[in-house]
This record gives sequence, C-alpha cells and structure tokens, in this order.
Amino acid sequence: MPTLSLVPPRASTGAGQVDALYGYLLVVGIAMTVLIFVVVVFFALKYRRKSPDEPPPKPIHGSIPLELTWSVIPFLFMLVMFAWGTKLYFDNYTPPRDTLDIYVVGKQWMWKVQYPDGQREINELHVPTGRAVKITLASEDVIHSFFLPAFRLKHDVVPGSYQTFWFQATLPGRYHIFCAEYCGTNHSRMIGWVTVMEPVAYQNWLAGSATGASMAEQGQKLFDQFGCVTCHVTDSQGRCPSLRNVFGNPVQLEDGRTVVANEAYIRESILNPNAKIVKGYKHDVMPVFQGQISEDNLLQLIVYIKSLSASTAAPAKAAATQVQKQ
Ligand code: CUA
Repeated sequence: MPTLSLVPPRASTGAGQVDALYGYLLVVGIAMTVLIFVVVVFFALKYRRKSPDEPPPKPIHGSIPLELTWSVIPFLFMLVMFAWGTKLYFDNYTPPRDTLDIYVVGKQWMWKVQYPDGQREINELHVPTGRAVKITLASEDVIHSFFLPAFRLKHDVVPGSYQTFWFQATLPGRYHIFCAEYCGTNHSRMIGWVTVMEPVAYQNWLAGSATGASMAEQGQKLFDQFGCVTCHVTDSQGRCPSLRNVFGNPVQLEDGRTVVANEAYIRESILNPNAKIVKGYKHDVMPVFQGQISEDNLLQLIVYIKSLSASTAAPAKAAATQVQKQ
C-alpha cells in the first residue's frame, strides 16, 4: 500500500489527466494569490505616506495598456481551465463503442449493481482491468451522487433519468464508493467498494456469481409478465410497434418529429407511453407503467429491448465473450 499520500491511488486511465488538471488549477490559484498579496504588501510599503506633511499624490486616471495586460493574461490562464476541463468532461462522459455495461441504481441508502450476465450486488462493484466499462446510473428515489475517487469520477444520480460515465481500470485493488450528495438520514452510510480485478480473476468471479438468467432474459420474463408481448408482437404488425431493431435507430413520431430510440426514450415509452407516439399508432392503447415498475426491472426491460436490435446486440454479445475469454 502507498505510504503517505495526499490523493487516492490512480486506478484508471483517466485519473492521471484529472490530477494534472487539478495540479494546474492549484498552481495557477497559488501563483495568482501569491502575486496579489506580494504586490499589495510591496505597494503598501513603497507608497506609504512617509511624513505627516507629505502632500497627497497626484490622482491617476487609468492606463489602457496596464488594464489590458492584467485582464488579458489572467483571462488566457482561465480559458485554459475551461478548455481543458471541457475536454476531460467529454472524454469521461462519452463512452467509446464496445463497452462492458454495468447498471447501478441508487436508493436510500444503498447502491444496487446489475451485470449483463445477471449477477447482482449491493454496495459492491466488480470491474476488470484493461477494458472500457460503461456505468449507467438511475435513482429509485432522490438525488444521489456516485463517486469513485480512485477513478476521479463522480456523477449525480437524478431520479427520472439515466446518467452514464465510463472508465478503464488499470490497477487491481479495492477502492471506495461514496454517495456525494446529501440524500437523507443515512447518506453517510451510502458507501461501498469497487473491486478491480485482472481479467482472468474477473472471469472466475463472474462464473462464481452466475445466477442463471442474464439481464436480457430477466427482461424478457418481465416483458411476458406485464403482458407487453400481447401487443408488441415481435415479428409482425401488432397493435403496438414491433420492438425488433428499434434500439439505437431513429423512430418517426406521429407529430412529425424523429427521435433516436435510446435508453431514455425506451424508459419514457414504458412509464408514459403517450409522451411519444410512433407514427401510425394510437394514443391510450398501452397502459401507463409509471409507479408500477422498479428501476432495476426497467433496466432489465431496456437490456432486453436492446438485445432485440441487431446493431446493439452483436457488440454487446461480443463484449461479453471477450471478457469470458481473456
Ligand atoms: Cu445517496 Cu447521499
């Protein structure tokens, strides 16, 4: 273990970049502060009134070059912060293609984790090294914030929507998970551990925690249970649109708009089907599922609907096998 360290271990490919940006903020912050204080003290001493009968100095009416200098130079330093921060933000929150997808639901006061192969955990997250992992976050109740200090990643978990970020772990070990947004009495206990494992160890862990039914299979079961299957006939025209090859593709709506069928769209269409009606179909055919389905089950349904789409099912399946083989 590291000896005395001011920062947590860097356990992901992106952690060093976040630390570098923080280093820059710190250096610029300290340099500005020192500069201002040195100048204040220096001027106070140099231009102080040296004797009681010294006449007041002549007033100064500004200097354009001076004011431009002390405005433009700090502005450029700040602009670097903005550009660098923006780049890191988009790097960390835009997952690459072909990720290992893990789903995390925040709930007062625990983190519930689901893996594509169906394993489930509470307050524990297992990830392999050397592979891009995409985390999809949802909340069952209030705003939480999922914080992984060793990966330098944090994201609010807002009820009613999905948030994602991604990382590639590099250093095997066990690192903290925190909730970083006050969410009620036991907020401080809403903590857990992320375990980073070598790919082979990870494969063994997955096999050892196998439950039998993958998330997609669990989703399919719910699809039958809730009766979705009676209208969403998969291969022909039912009373509701077929869901085959819907995910990830554009959908034409009745009001003329076109939207892309992503997680948020599927989620909304389950909870509030009348919000976006597909062209050629009617309002009020599908029951409203708001309040009827837990966030965990919603994610399973979404993974199932994803699996019906060739463009998304293929890479997801390849991703799973890749982990198995490593
Ligand atoms: Cu959940 Cu704080």
